[in-house]
Amino acid sequence: MDDRHALSAALGEKLNMEADALSEWFETPPSDDLGDYAFPCFRLAKTMRKAPNLIAAELAPQIVLPAGFSRAEAVGGYINFFVNKADYAKSVLTRVRNEGERYGASDEGAGRNVCIDYSSVNIAKPFGIHHLSTTAIGHALYRIYNFLGYKSIGINHLGDWGTQFGKMIVAYQKWGDKETVDREGVRSLVELYVRFHQEAEKDASLNDEGRAWFRKIELGDKEALSLFNWFKELTMRDVMRVYELLDIRFDSYAGESFYEDKMLPVVEELREKGLLKVDQGASIVDLSAYDMPPCIILRTDGATLYATRDLATAIYRKNTYDFAKSLYVVAYQQSLHFRQFFKVLELMGKAWVKDMEHVSFGMVSFDGASFSTRQGNVVYLEDVLNASIERTLEIIKEKSPEMENKEAVARDVGVGAVIWSVLYNSKIKDINFTWERALNFDGETGPYTQYTYARCQSVLRKAGTFDFAAPDFAALTDASSMALLRALAAFPDAVKAAANKNEPFLVSRAVMEICSAFNKFYYDNRILGEAENVKNARLALCEAAGTVIKTGLYLVGLKAPERM
Ligand code: ARG
Repeated sequence: MDDRHALSAALGEKLNMEADALSEWFETPPSDDLGDYAFPCFRLAKTMRKAPNLIAAELAPQIVLPAGFSRAEAVGGYINFFVNKADYAKSVLTRVRNEGERYGASDEGAGRNVCIDYSSVNIAKPFGIHHLSTTAIGHALYRIYNFLGYKSIGINHLGDWGTQFGKMIVAYQKWGDKETVDREGVRSLVELYVRFHQEAEKDASLNDEGRAWFRKIELGDKEALSLFNWFKELTMRDVMRVYELLDIRFDSYAGESFYEDKMLPVVEELREKGLLKVDQGASIVDLSAYDMPPCIILRTDGATLYATRDLATAIYRKNTYDFAKSLYVVAYQQSLHFRQFFKVLELMGKAWVKDMEHVSFGMVSFDGASFSTRQGNVVYLEDVLNASIERTLEIIKEKSPEMENKEAVARDVGVGAVIWSVLYNSKIKDINFTWERALNFDGETGPYTQYTYARCQSVLRKAGTFDFAAPDFAALTDASSMALLRALAAFPDAVKAAANKNEPFLVSRAVMEICSAFNKFYYDNRILGEAENVKNARLALCEAAGTVIKTGLYLVGLKAPERM
């Protein structure tokens, strides 16, 4: 982008035009021998009353070239600009070397808070493959925003409130036993829950019992609360193991139950502002003017709902964190819910609702199977991660039997493969996870990028030390070195764009560009054994590639093992 701005300024001066507007006009020439940037003159033809090729021919020799450019050449209606390749190589590599792991970082966030509600597991429910996307996307955004100078606040909005906990208590008391549940945690709770639904189909009175027990939780009954808290502990014990594997920590676990005593004031405010309407005994906010069904605030029996809690949550977050942005990384199935409660906040006059966003994503199925807790169709994320680690270990044993810490590497690569599989496409796309795809070391996968990083490190290890002050940057002007340099130069903008669009896959793609370019560069060029100044230049490029790949992997939540 910097190049384009410099060129636009130079052109703007000659044309008496606003440089900013011109920078949008640039195109990338179809081939390398046509230069690095092409400026089309077609749009100037009308105002200048001249044919585009004449404009190009006249203008080209008059432009004062900015630093880093070697020439401007008119071809047809275009002016093609040629970068001075050696200078370009020097500037990219110097910048990466100086900035190191901060390359691509910025302070544009100025320390402002960004709330990121992600992963948000449900108590006594499985932490399944359907929670993989929210967890991986949210965590990537967490790191990306921090990298851009914001302060990310990671919030796990626990689903720990609702009549299902009354049902859980009934199921546990009827069919559960303490020892099994203690040992098997969530899995046995889930089994009890499935059983409850089967039995309730035959005997509807079970539902009434469930509701009665939930009422006891609400009223703070000792026995009910102690069971409820125990379910919570068991779930968190299981869930934390997964976060440990993924290297994720949250700043807050304030979930739905936390807002129990914070909803009344919101309901009052809605009433005062004349937004609440009673409809068949329920209190609602009418959204028909916005083509949406009503947002239900209180049920006929006075009970609050998911939306009521989310209203209280949003207000609490604004008061507590004064966020610059507040993101909800939640599946697209909930879009209506988010549109509704965002609209209610707007009607309440909360201008800051403009800073809130539902970051939605598509479905993940596992080898074709989708997911349903009630039917007991459960794919636990922990199982997928562990299976991935195991399979990776097998591959490593086969490919590199002599490798030292195989287990640790298998863990980083196995976990990385799973994360990568949901971060390599636009988040809204549905994904079918398959082992062949996720663990293909030659495909566009996490393992491939980690392998490329390890290859960079291996070259650098073999070289020992090298002198960055003495490279011949002209040795980096071949097509594959230049392609790698361009991929490195594109990284900072990719990180920014990822935050702007809340699309971490833009970072994964940038990493993949660098990795494929690196492997081509490595295939085309000899490094060790070349003359000292050439070797230094290529090692410098290797080092830069390694640095940026590692940063990129970190940003999307992957580790970069030194050897693979
Ligand atoms: N626990 C919910 C689920 O698993 C997601 C909660 C998202 N956050 C929120 N504030 N509504 O579907």
